[in-house]
Amino acid sequence: MDKKFTVKSFQKAKEEKRQISVLTAYDYSIAKILDSAGVDALLVGDSLGMVVQGNDSTLSVTLDVMIYHAKAVTRAAKRALVVVDMPFMSYHTSANEAVRNAGRLMKEGGAQAIKLEGGVEFADTIRQIVRAQIPVMGHIGMTPQSLHMFGGFKVQGKSIEQAQKIIDDAKALEEAGVFAITLECVPDELSKIITEIVNVPTIGIGAGKYCDGQVLVSNDMLGMFSDFVPKFVKQFAHLSTDIKTAVTTYIEEINAGNFPQKEHTFSIDKEVLDSLNK
Ligand code: KIV
Repeated sequence: MDKKFTVKSFQKAKEEKRQISVLTAYDYSIAKILDSAGVDALLVGDSLGMVVQGNDSTLSVTLDVMIYHAKAVTRAAKRALVVVDMPFMSYHTSANEAVRNAGRLMKEGGAQAIKLEGGVEFADTIRQIVRAQIPVMGHIGMTPQSLHMFGGFKVQGKSIEQAQKIIDDAKALEEAGVFAITLECVPDELSKIITEIVNVPTIGIGAGKYCDGQVLVSNDMLGMFSDFVPKFVKQFAHLSTDIKTAVTTYIEEINAGNFPQKEHTFSIDKEVLDSLNK
């Protein structure tokens, strides 16, 4: 196994200009595959509200649900850093509550870092979480928990005002002590500027190739979630097709009496059978 990837490795990767790979994970089996394939960090994203729970946004995800999934993922991750999302309303009401809830993700969920959405307006909260010795990843640009403020899942940073706000957010996050910044759905020229301005690594999703690393929702990139496929997603596999083929074959084989075969079946000693048949 390669050396454990830590928050320090994020900084080192930026300095060495080595791209950082991040994927979401929500359960033990998938997390184990992603970790053994060598992904640098696993994000237990609140996107699970959509791809696992089937909601049309992330807003209803609770802290207890995040802890439940974090436990499963941290049991599987040997090398990858496990970052866990703070869900909507778990850090918005006060910095004290935010620190307490971030602490629960670490103590109960086994998180090695947390991520929260927002820039300038959350800088003080982030500072207090970092002061509690909890590494924080920032998340700016199109922040899905602000869906209703944005009027939908819309690319951010196309106007001068929006672009300047995202630059200010990135600077505020760096100053507050984040170890990395997720940039979601912003034009690639803007993420290039931000990646050059800040000293912490930027991790892009729908933010082009100039970031210091990339993150995707694994269900999207594995072709398992087709309710909608965002423009920035590349499907590196088509697992929903593979799964459908496997399941239809299973049904056909059961109906045809071809499954299970002898090798899938347990047997009983002859004397036991004879006595049962008496
Ligand atoms: O919840 C999530 O999966 C995320 C990624 C989209 C970055 O925050």
